[in-house]
Amino acid sequence: MTPFHLLLLFLVFFNIATSSESKLTLDYYKKTCPGLQQTIRQVITDKQIASSTTAAATLRLFFHDCMVNGCDGSILISSNAFNTAERDADINLSLPGDGFEVVTRAKTALELECPDIVSCADILALAARDLVTMVGGPYYDVRLGRKDGFVSKASEAEAAMPKPTMPLSQIIKIFEARGLSVQEMVALTGAHTIGFTHCKEFSHRLYNFSKKSDYDPTLYPKYAEGLRKLCENYTKDPTMSAFNDVMTPNKFDNMYYKNLQKGLGLLASDQAMAVDGRTKPYVDLYAGNQTAFFQAFARAIEKVSVYQVKTGRKGEVRHRCDAFNSLQT
Ligand code: HEM
Ligand SMILES: *[C@@H]1O[C@H](CO)[C@@H](O)[C@H](O)[C@H]1NC(C)=O
Ligand SMILES: *[C@@H]1O[C@H](CO)[C@@H](O)[C@H](O)[C@H]1NC(C)=O
Ligand SMILES: *[C@@H]1O[C@H](CO)[C@@H](O)[C@H](O)[C@H]1NC(C)=O
Ligand SMILES: *[C@@H]1O[C@H](CO)[C@@H](O)[C@H](O)[C@H]1NC(C)=O
Repeated sequence: MTPFHLLLLFLVFFNIATSSESKLTLDYYKKTCPGLQQTIRQVITDKQIASSTTAAATLRLFFHDCMVNGCDGSILISSNAFNTAERDADINLSLPGDGFEVVTRAKTALELECPDIVSCADILALAARDLVTMVGGPYYDVRLGRKDGFVSKASEAEAAMPKPTMPLSQIIKIFEARGLSVQEMVALTGAHTIGFTHCKEFSHRLYNFSKKSDYDPTLYPKYAEGLRKLCENYTKDPTMSAFNDVMTPNKFDNMYYKNLQKGLGLLASDQAMAVDGRTKPYVDLYAGNQTAFFQAFARAIEKVSVYQVKTGRKGEVRHRCDAFNSLQT
């Protein structure tokens, strides 16, 4: 081979190496947007203080973004006449406005500070991490350099997301398809230590449950009674909701697992994890040791946060987070 051929070979390899998806770095914006972390922290703090549901809303939004085609900001795209976007797959109520709003605010601030530099996918990842930490959860590293994706389809979200009424085996498969183990699934779902759920997601456990029992007998009876009362008008008022963690609803802690052990799990899928032999050991572990939960959650969410990310020309930095830069049809 001539030196020229060697150079070509080198360029080919170099190209392959730099287009791989594993080149996110902690200091990606160090030169181009040095105030990034500070700005995000300011925005999320103001928003969380004004609206205490922001942390849960943003964490859920981030999880959904990553589960459907990787963490690429696709969840933030608004539907238009040509496309029903990912965020509209679920009932409107379901993905809460606070999460979208915190990202929009951060993007607006960052566009003034360093225009067209920071992707919406990275903003969402950072905001979720900072909010988890702010409400008492662990700090973990978020590597940066995600690009915003070009696709956002409701139909893809329907298939990709776990639902509370699915058998646990099916939920496990959804996580495993993304390289996440049963233990990681249990640790991640500890996110239900914050936030709330609309009655319709668990009403099947409360009314006309079976011939033998009005409500799901795995529920602690007083808790079931309380929920039946709380949700009595949910068909007329679909905004009715209950806290995911009835004991410490706004604090990121390991109470979720302690609740499960007592029949205080809200979703059928939550409660199943405390009973099923594949998941129960981890529920018991995290219920007994918050440090173990925090370490496992941090490691697992870091793994989720780099899942199928787009870099280089596989994505763009959106001008605004709710629309692709060029009109899609
Ligand atoms: C095991 C499978 C899971 C199922 C079936 C599930 C399902 C749900 C459902 C139905 C809701 C309530 C939505 C509503 O009524 O507004 C919810 C809320 C929530 N989920 Fe999950 N989830 C799962 C795992 C996760 C994971 C892994 C995370 C994050 C790492 C997460 C984070 C959240 C948060 C933070 C909320 C509260 C949202 C809010 O308050 O606005 N979930 N989940
Ligand atoms: C969703 O929200 C839009 C705008 O707020 C509203 O017009 C529409 O009726 C809502 N759809 C559902 C199913 O709630
Ligand atoms: C429960 O079943 C009874 C009798 O079948 C029915 O009248 C009632 O409307 C049901 N309640 C709910 C909440 O579905
Ligand atoms: C349900 O509706 C009834 C009649 O309007 C009302 O008296 C009751 O307080 C409502 N329950 C809840 C939990 O909002
Ligand atoms: C709790 O978990 C941490 C982290 O895995 C471990 O270092 C510690 O020894 C555990 N504590 C107890 C009391 O088991």
